[in-house]
Amino acid sequence: MLNFSPSCERNQQPILEQFQGLLADSRHVLEVGSGSGQHALFFARRFPWLTWQPTELIMNYGALQLNLMEEAVENVLPPQVLDVCQPRWDVDSADVVFTANTLHIMGWPQVECFFTGVGATLEPGGQLIVYGPFRYGGDYTSASNAGFDQWLKQRDPVSGIRDFEAVNALAEAVGLALRADVAMPANNQLLVWVKPEV
Ligand SMILES: C[S@@+](CC[C@H](N)C(=O)[O-])C[C@H]1O[C@@H](n2cnc3c(N)ncnc32)[C@H](O)[C@@H]1O
Repeated sequence: MLNFSPSCERNQQPILEQFQGLLADSRHVLEVGSGSGQHALFFARRFPWLTWQPTELIMNYGALQLNLMEEAVENVLPPQVLDVCQPRWDVDSADVVFTANTLHIMGWPQVECFFTGVGATLEPGGQLIVYGPFRYGGDYTSASNAGFDQWLKQRDPVSGIRDFEAVNALAEAVGLALRADVAMPANNQLLVWVKPEV
């Protein structure tokens, strides 16, 4: 598998346990920043009633496409190129948008684009599910997350662990309401917002 992610291997089971409650009545998942495709393959196999749409930046698209083709899971759709800041997200609407470990990699303008795109793409009644590390009240949830943030910023100054409050404000600005904030292993969170029915 190209671009194999050890953290995906570690977090997929705890995320699965949350998804069992969250995705029982869902139909179509749009995943933003699918990386290697490990999550797409793992979750699509366990939720066969879902269609799973993986997406990636053009620069990481080829590896994702190869990985998905090798496994050929029926309900994983061919990946699409998606940069959250492209003018229009050229994807089908979805009743779930999922992204893992992306908001601290993108710069803040891209995080803003992400929420604008989600606001336009998520169906009424749908859920946005975001997995990753966050700060609360300006504080890290652990010393290791503080160290991780330093490491991220040294590698790329525009990246960094996001403040939950700032991210939640972007979600609220596009009409989403926070439904759950679940503490996950390794000092990560699973954040779930819902878009009200019209
Ligand atoms: C740390 S990886 C996480 C990949 C995968 N979701 C996982 O959990 O292993 C961050 C991903 O965010 C994607 N990404 C970064 N900027 C992006 C953008 N502007 N639009 C869409 N995806 C982006 C990268 O291509 C990369 O695959």
